[in-house]
Amino acid sequence: MKLLCLLFFLIIVADPCSSQNTFFEPGAIWKDTEGKHINAHGGGIYSEGDTYYWYGEHKGQSSIAQVGVRVYSSSDLYNWKNEGIALAVSNDLDSEITKGSVIERPKVIYNNKTGKYVMWFHLELKNQGYAAARTGVAISDSPTGPFKYLKSYRPNANVWPLNFPLSNQKRTKKNELYEWWTPEWKAALIEGLYVRRDFREGQMSRDMTVFVDDDGKAYHIHSSEENQTLHISELTDDYLDFTSRWTRMKPGGQNEAPAVFKHNDTYYMITSGLTGWAPNAARSFSAKSIWGPWKSLGNPATGKLAQVTFNSQSTYVLTVNGVEDTFLYMGDRWNPKNHIDGRYIWLPIKIKNKKPEIEWFDKWALSKYNSIQP
Ligand code: GAL
Repeated sequence: MKLLCLLFFLIIVADPCSSQNTFFEPGAIWKDTEGKHINAHGGGIYSEGDTYYWYGEHKGQSSIAQVGVRVYSSSDLYNWKNEGIALAVSNDLDSEITKGSVIERPKVIYNNKTGKYVMWFHLELKNQGYAAARTGVAISDSPTGPFKYLKSYRPNANVWPLNFPLSNQKRTKKNELYEWWTPEWKAALIEGLYVRRDFREGQMSRDMTVFVDDDGKAYHIHSSEENQTLHISELTDDYLDFTSRWTRMKPGGQNEAPAVFKHNDTYYMITSGLTGWAPNAARSFSAKSIWGPWKSLGNPATGKLAQVTFNSQSTYVLTVNGVEDTFLYMGDRWNPKNHIDGRYIWLPIKIKNKKPEIEWFDKWALSKYNSIQP
């Protein structure tokens, strides 16, 4: 009997499932409920009822997609259960999402009208580096998948952006091929050099996010024009296509890694600069309309390591259910030598004087009382 009791005690104590996380520890190894380091990079969260679903890139040592998009579920944001692969890479060599392609920054939204879950992601075709610059879309009947891949493309082919002057709506001429980084190049870029160049084929689409507004309209926000300008595009009612209404945000502003959220009728955006896997100072913006104009609010990160955004790059901002005015910054601390070891930097965002502010905490928790306690 004594032996049995001892055994029982050991099982209870040693059971990894019974160890519940009760706080965030940005940059530490975050284990799922089975004790494995969470593999969901460049991620985003979709929530339904009391459940949060965290989708992200399943990485190996390299960043190339070998598995697909993984999904985890949680009811408290601290403890995550592995729900498997939401979108699997294909073994078919002819598939656009074949093993060896690049699948980044997956974001899932739910369409009320069709009852479908829609995943958008940045897709680069196999063996083409980052040249393809496409956006891909997949669909599912369940938040955990399996998602069925539909298509990918460069969006907004043959349509000019809203408010694009008629005088700029011309074909790119030979003499428009400026030497990069010269003042002439920059001026031409701002005026629409690459919009014109890519008019027929569609606009480049790399780092991206999707945002659903209160009225149910969804927007796809992506880094375009050789990563020099963000494009904001409206999606169709079923969220599966672009409507042709789109705009350029901060032409020549070099913004990547966009994350959008809304607070008191104001839209906020957090982005990074362009330094690849290396961290840089985040930027923040606000606007009264999703179409802009977007006002620059500077680096939202404060304190030590603000200049490198606490060694992270934005991927999503979560509006926390049931905790009013609480926003969670989700960033990636990339490890390009061993991508699977990338870490998650989640921190509270406070809106102070109509400006988002992100402060570092070694450990922190969301309180039940509408505020954030370090
Ligand atoms: C980063 C981007 C990542 C990935 C990487 C590739 O700037 O945010 O998602 O594309 O470049 O170098």
